Amino acid sequence: MSDDSLPSPAGTRTAAVIPAAGRGVRLGPGAPKALRALGGTPMLIHAVRALAASRAVSLVVVVAPPDGAAEVRSLLDAHALPERTDFLVVPGGETRQESVRLGLDALPEGHDIVLVHDAARPLVPVDTVDAVIEAVRDGALAVVPALPLADTVKEVGAAPAPGAPEPVVATPERARLRAVQTPQGFDRQTLVRAHRTVTDEVTDDAGMVEKLGLGVVVVPGHEEAFKVTRPLDLVLAEAVLTRRRLNDGF
Ligand code: CTP
Ligand code: MG
Repeated sequence: MSDDSLPSPAGTRTAAVIPAAGRGVRLGPGAPKALRALGGTPMLIHAVRALAASRAVSLVVVVAPPDGAAEVRSLLDAHALPERTDFLVVPGGETRQESVRLGLDALPEGHDIVLVHDAARPLVPVDTVDAVIEAVRDGALAVVPALPLADTVKEVGAAPAPGAPEPVVATPERARLRAVQTPQGFDRQTLVRAHRTVTDEVTDDAGMVEKLGLGVVVVPGHEEAFKVTRPLDLVLAEAVLTRRRLNDGF
C-alpha cells in the first residue's frame, strides 16, 4: 500500500468487481485458477490486495466459482486485508460476462466508479489501478490500461480443409494496436447500461461500452499486470514475486 495512492474525495467512491469464477482450462487440471497458489498465497488474494491497495477503493466484490462462494469467504477471512475496505462475495456464472454482471448486481448504492479486474491478473501495481481511477474521475466513461504489442498480429481466415494451414487475410499495423489489461474503469451507470443492453459475446467490459457507441480511452498498462493464462505464466508470476521480495529487502 503506497501512501501516495489516490485518496477518496467526498462524492466519488470506487468499487472493484473481481471476476474469479473461471476454471482455468488453459492452465491445466487442478483447482479453479483463482484459488491456485502463487508464492504460497491464492492468486485471488493477491488480486484482491492489489485492488484494495488503492486508497480510493472502498469496496471489493469477488465473484467466486459458482460452488465456491463459501470457500472464497473463508479465504478472505484467513488473509490480512486493509481494514478500510469492505468485501462482498457472490457466486459467478458460465461466462466472464455473466460473472461480471452478477458482481454488478450485488453492488450497493453509493459507488460512482466501478473497476473490473481479472483475478487472473494478481500482480497489477497500485499505480496502474490509480491511473485508471484518475482517468474516470477526469471524466472518461470507460478506461482501459494497455500496452503496445511485441509481436506482429495477423488476421487469418478459415482453413480450406481440416488440418490445412490457415490463410492470412490481413496484417493490422502493429504501432496502432494495444494489448488491453485490467482493471478497466467505468462510470458506474455506463457499465450497468452496457451489461443490460449488450448481448453480443465480448472478451472485455470496455468492448460492451464501445458497442453502445460511447468513447473508451487508454492509459498506460504495466508489464506486471499480465494475465496468468498458461503454465508458463505461473513461472513468470513466481519470478515477479521473488524479485519484489528481494527489492523489498526480505
Ligand atoms: N471468469 C469468471 N467467470 C467465468 C469465466 C471467467 O469470473 N465464467 C474470470 C476468471 O476467473 C478470470 C477472468 O474472468 O479471473 C479472466 O478469464 P480467463 O483468464 O479466461 O480465466 P478462465 O476462464 O478461468 O481461464 P480459461 O479460459 O483458460 O478457462
Ligand atoms: Mg476464460
